[in-house]
Amino acid sequence: MAYENIRVETRGRVGLITLDRPSALNALSNALFEELNRALDTFEADDKIGCIVLTGSEKAFAAGADIKEMSEFDFAEAYKRDHITPWERVTRVRKPVIAAVSGYALGGGCELAMMCDFIIAGDNAKFGQPEVTLGVVPGAGGTQRLTRFVGKSKAMEMCLSGRFMDAEEAERAGLVSRIVPAADLVEEAVNVAHKIAEMSLPIVMMIKESVNRAYETTLAEGTRFERRMFHASFATEDQNEGMRAFIEKRSPQFKNK
Ligand code: CAA
Repeated sequence: MAYENIRVETRGRVGLITLDRPSALNALSNALFEELNRALDTFEADDKIGCIVLTGSEKAFAAGADIKEMSEFDFAEAYKRDHITPWERVTRVRKPVIAAVSGYALGGGCELAMMCDFIIAGDNAKFGQPEVTLGVVPGAGGTQRLTRFVGKSKAMEMCLSGRFMDAEEAERAGLVSRIVPAADLVEEAVNVAHKIAEMSLPIVMMIKESVNRAYETTLAEGTRFERRMFHASFATEDQNEGMRAFIEKRSPQFKNK
């Protein structure tokens, strides 16, 4: 089925998904999420894809959940529909997903970016959790993931006051991995994704799983998990190739992509 709210393309081994609902600054409607999750499923299943980039427009990565879709909910409706849970599909993608954020990443838009593996920001990016100004609590992890990224004080201030954070502040606070000129954002993110997609995919997936463990468990358990993954990497032919290539002073040609 064709996509109406996103654009989907491949660039070599990189899958690029662009949120494309300009009339609503990429507000995250149910229809948009149905398409986004379908595109993620397609790239996850495609052996020719090694890394995914998720981006929006220069003005807005996404201005949040679709307020117009939610405005008439009562508690029973919100609880029964539970329309946010399908958003978490992106957190279960095993290939790396990079958020390339330009412009507004607000409410659910900030939350969606934080569900990705890392965020590269355009220099015009603005992050915020303005749900409080709408009389609701952030609903897709804003109070939880933002706190883990930037610490209690900044997360508390942003969630309680609705203040936006610009790209510089977001980089200082550790929310984004780096800032690039907005005009170069997609190209830069795709370049990083290309680099990742040339690595051994099982190793990349093990690294992703290991870093994510840091959020879910104790340091002792996390390092034990990492050690087991490290040992397991010696069962791959790519370990052999990677180390042999280093010794022979050439680029590795990984087989398991
Ligand atoms: N939902 C639905 N429509 C939205 C939207 C949203 N989150 N954000 C913007 N739009 C629509 C506007 O209604 C407007 O549509 P019309 O032209 O039909 O009126 C269009 O997008 C353009 O928006 P603006 O005219 O407001 O653009 P602006 O440049 O003046 O302001 C903005 C930009 C500051 C981002 C402003 O649009 C804004 O504050 N948006 C809402 C941000 C927000 O509160 N997000 C949180 C949503 S709740 C949430 O996400 C819950 C959760 O945690 C899961």
